[in-house]
Amino acid sequence: MIHDPTPDQDETRDSDEAKGSEAADAAGTLRHRRIRSFVTRAGRVSTGQRRALDEFGPRFVVPYAPQPLDWDAAFGRQAPRVLEIGFGMGGTTAEIASARPADDFLGIEVHEPGVGALLKLIGEQELTNIRVVQHDAVEVLEHMIAADSLDGVHIYFPDPWHKARHHKRRLIQPKFVALLVSRLKPGGYLHLATDWQNYAEQMLEVLSAEPALENSAGSDYAQRPDYRPVTKFERRGLKLGHGVWDLVFKRR
Ligand SMILES: C[S@@+](CC[C@H](N)C(=O)[O-])C[C@H]1O[C@@H](n2cnc3c(N)ncnc32)[C@H](O)[C@@H]1O
Repeated sequence: MIHDPTPDQDETRDSDEAKGSEAADAAGTLRHRRIRSFVTRAGRVSTGQRRALDEFGPRFVVPYAPQPLDWDAAFGRQAPRVLEIGFGMGGTTAEIASARPADDFLGIEVHEPGVGALLKLIGEQELTNIRVVQHDAVEVLEHMIAADSLDGVHIYFPDPWHKARHHKRRLIQPKFVALLVSRLKPGGYLHLATDWQNYAEQMLEVLSAEPALENSAGSDYAQRPDYRPVTKFERRGLKLGHGVWDLVFKRR
């Protein structure tokens, strides 16, 4: 896991949030302060990642823009569309895209070293079916992804925000799930995975309560689908006796 917040960052956020979700700026106007699921960190970009950003960024990074993305133009073909949110260092993204060459994958990640790492994999493996947006996934979904347009959504090991007072930062909440569902085609799938039991329970509860979704595994967690590889991080957790929960729901 690359994105666990430090206690110091936690405290900064708490004091920020204490000021409320709206704040008056210098001009006296009100602006909304959205509670985000990530903390922006500088993060060190390695030489290899920098090289990949420079070499492959122009071809594979799609700049954020508040208008619907033309997937066919971005990928140069028409193919099933899968969105991945928070791909981290992109190892899983690259592996899945390589195993599913007939599908197109749009990966969203805010952390620059992760974007560089995935671009490096794209270059090394000559993958052509991945594009990357470096921006908040909530805004990408709201503005760049058309309604009823996605065949699938992957969200693997989203930040669990362990402390109860930070649970409001968790990505998987009713409002966000409703947004996701609105972007899925009827029959499209939503695949989540987590190694944090309390978050798994929240995921199952929130997804089960969304009327437009149907659980592919009855009322339970799903078996890990074959296309999702076991990540390095996950393997380490499994060795330590941690559980892993997959959820696969379909839009009705
Ligand atoms: C715990 S990591 C998991 C990474 C990867 N999926 C894995 O399984 O190794 C969660 C990732 O989600 C990213 N993230 C969190 N909220 C996000 C958001 N709103 N938009 C884009 N990325 C986000 C973080 O930067 C972080 O890299």
